[in-house]
Amino acid sequence: MIIGKRLGEDRFKFYKTVLAGNTDQLLFDEEFNAWFVFNVRNLHTLIRDERLKANTKTVIDKLPLKIETIRTLKNFYSNWVMFTDGESHKQLRRLVGTIINTRYHAINYTWPQINKNCDFTTEYARPYVYGILAQLVGVSVEDISRMVSASETINSFLLRERLTLDDIEQVAHSIEYAYQVVKEIEDKHVGEPLYIGNELLDLPQETRYPLIINLVTDGFAPFVAALDFLAFNLLTHPYLEEELNAKAGQISLESLRLFPPFTTISRTCVHEIPFKEKIIRPRQLVIFDLYSINRDPEVFPDPEKFNLENTARAYSFGAAQHLCSGNPLVRKALEQVTRQSESLYKYKIQSYCFKNSYGFTDMNLSIELK
Ligand code: HEM
Repeated sequence: MIIGKRLGEDRFKFYKTVLAGNTDQLLFDEEFNAWFVFNVRNLHTLIRDERLKANTKTVIDKLPLKIETIRTLKNFYSNWVMFTDGESHKQLRRLVGTIINTRYHAINYTWPQINKNCDFTTEYARPYVYGILAQLVGVSVEDISRMVSASETINSFLLRERLTLDDIEQVAHSIEYAYQVVKEIEDKHVGEPLYIGNELLDLPQETRYPLIINLVTDGFAPFVAALDFLAFNLLTHPYLEEELNAKAGQISLESLRLFPPFTTISRTCVHEIPFKEKIIRPRQLVIFDLYSINRDPEVFPDPEKFNLENTARAYSFGAAQHLCSGNPLVRKALEQVTRQSESLYKYKIQSYCFKNSYGFTDMNLSIELK
């Protein structure tokens, strides 16, 4: 069964069809050489298993690529927090976590008044996220937007299920280019108390640059998507207008449960794992389908419904050792946006379109005056 392919093409129809007949909630996809996990129970059993590793880029070594390309990719991904394991993961995670946690309280999260018919994503969601990340990193909005654009190709490596060797060469070029952009920005800001790079200055460039890019770009796309989904949910559930202040936290978390921007997280098996009369073998992937896990009917009653009574934890920020480091910042921001969303209700949805790719989902949303 070509699950992975169908996940990318039409996740929304797909998960319902597959889950209906599957009691184990665990399926193997030969094309992907991957096990797919669909429910909370299996996620809990497997996510902390030491025989599963976060580094899903081990294949890089074996690809027939130029030596410099392999070096660039390996260096980059061995400093990309999400793909590291063991001691080096602990160190990088501590570093990134400390930076985010000491800075996110001081950010100004003010959400603007909505005052025009527009493409919501371009006019409101993206500029807002640029503004938040610019404050986090201590640079201008223009600099952050340069870093994000420079990194867009790099991210395609993480989100596409199949890449040609040419694509991978392209990714390596983009990494080099992104380093150049970070260097230019750093040269302007070095010594300034707010610039994040100054807290990392004792790290060598080959660790510092990927980490800065990691901090800026890991969160950009899912954060924008989360704002789109929040606006979509607010507009499609008009009764929420009365609850914006009192229930801002529940509203923003429920929106993230229904529409997790990262729809999957993956691990690679390094030692055999017997599981439910099946065997997960070395080199096979385990892909946790967060989209389905967040709709597990054992945990979330009536899971398709936007339900403010849902108090169980959802998994949009992942779980266990690799739980999203940006989650306190994002939660604070989404709560604030919800509280300040009164002006959105002067508008209605003009058009919307979900965009699914492998491992990621977002939407185009346009609004017009009622
Ligand atoms: C709505 C927005 C966001 C969502 C839905 C999200 C989701 C996730 C998920 C699911 C993971 C776990 C990946 C895995 O287990 O393989 C993750 C990890 C991570 N996220 Fe986020 N994220 C968001 C925003 C951010 C932001 C704004 C930042 C930085 C400012 C950030 C930084 C990170 C980092 C550094 C990791 C790696 C943590 C580790 O591996 O220990 N994220 N995120």
